[in-house]
Amino acid sequence: MSGKEVFVGMDFGSFKTSVVASNGRRETFHTSVGWPKDHVARAMLGRDVVFGQDIVRQRLALEVVRPFERGTLKYLKSADAGVSDVDASKRREAARLLVQHALSSLGLPHGSTVYGVVGAPSRANAESKAVIMEAIQGHFDAAVIVAEPFTVAYSMNRLTETLVVDIGAGTIDICPIYGSYPTEEDQVTLPMGGDTIDECFLKALKAAHPEVQVSLNMAREIKEKHGFVHDVNEIALVTLPVHGVPTQVDVTEPLKHACKTIAGPIIQGIREVVARFDPEFQRPMLNHVLLGGGGSQLKGLDTMIEEGLRPLGGGNVTKVYDSVFAGAVGALKLAMNMPSAHWQRLAEFEPGSPAEASSNRRAA
Ligand SMILES: Nc1ncnc2c1ncn2[C@@H]1O[C@H](COP(=O)(O)OP(=O)(O)O)[C@@H](O)[C@H]1O
Ligand SMILES: [Mg+2]
Repeated sequence: MSGKEVFVGMDFGSFKTSVVASNGRRETFHTSVGWPKDHVARAMLGRDVVFGQDIVRQRLALEVVRPFERGTLKYLKSADAGVSDVDASKRREAARLLVQHALSSLGLPHGSTVYGVVGAPSRANAESKAVIMEAIQGHFDAAVIVAEPFTVAYSMNRLTETLVVDIGAGTIDICPIYGSYPTEEDQVTLPMGGDTIDECFLKALKAAHPEVQVSLNMAREIKEKHGFVHDVNEIALVTLPVHGVPTQVDVTEPLKHACKTIAGPIIQGIREVVARFDPEFQRPMLNHVLLGGGGSQLKGLDTMIEEGLRPLGGGNVTKVYDSVFAGAVGALKLAMNMPSAHWQRLAEFEPGSPAEASSNRRAA
């Protein structure tokens, strides 16, 4: 292959997007786009569109769109998600801009031929896949959309006898990996994740400490720093404003309560997925449960799931090394291991061709 070929692995998550390229660059930012609210904001920001940390800093001046919030566009048809057509088109535009931003952040040499593997939710329906394809079209010379749990497993060299539990912001995907590509029927998607923990924590915190001033964003930050599910004597003390005065508050109980809400459904989901397998495969699967996604970092979740699997004869639960980049790294590895003839074939497809997993920049 010539030196101008670059491979990109991308994890297009509902909360975070991470990209890794074969030139050694990597980048991660929130999957959100900020547009200036009016011409004053536009003049102040000096830009038409804002990404990454700047969105958090400048959020009062911005209309912020999270295109995949709660699985919108990914799992649901826009009408089912309660999103109007106008909102849906804004989300589409945001998704497109995010792909553009991701690629431009990698400093790829001008004129490179860019081949990408993009991790998408394992159970994205045809409509949602089309939206993701539309977003990547025009940015890659050829691209393949791959189920996210598969890229996570691939990054850990676990291509068989593995059960991936991908704990994202909007959903939790439980997906068995057994040597071939996961099928729709094999998997379970739970309509919960980091976002529902944050909401539950905020509600419980306000009920326990009505005097505390706290936002959903603050709740998420506390969870990411202190979140845990086990019962040992861990105490989460944080400083929060009470009538504007920084005050130390013990958030242990509301936090633990909220974090624990996902454990039961995950254990139930694992049991469901495993039960569909030939009894011979059930034990090896249970022995290799792999937690990925941001939520995998909740302290004690691995042990708690192991305990929940005891009635099935036990299990072995591990977490990915790097929950932020695991999916993107696996996608890059897949891209680099793909035979060049396969890429050439994908790059030759014309737009509108029935091959859903191809994209062609030049023809777009
Ligand atoms: N250290 C942490 N502990 C607990 N939750 C975390 C941690 N880091 C990130 N998260 C949560 O993980 C979720 C995002 O996970 P991620 O895999 O990036 O999601 P997605 O695939 O939906 O983009 C968010 O709800 C975030 O708050
Ligand atoms: Mg993810």
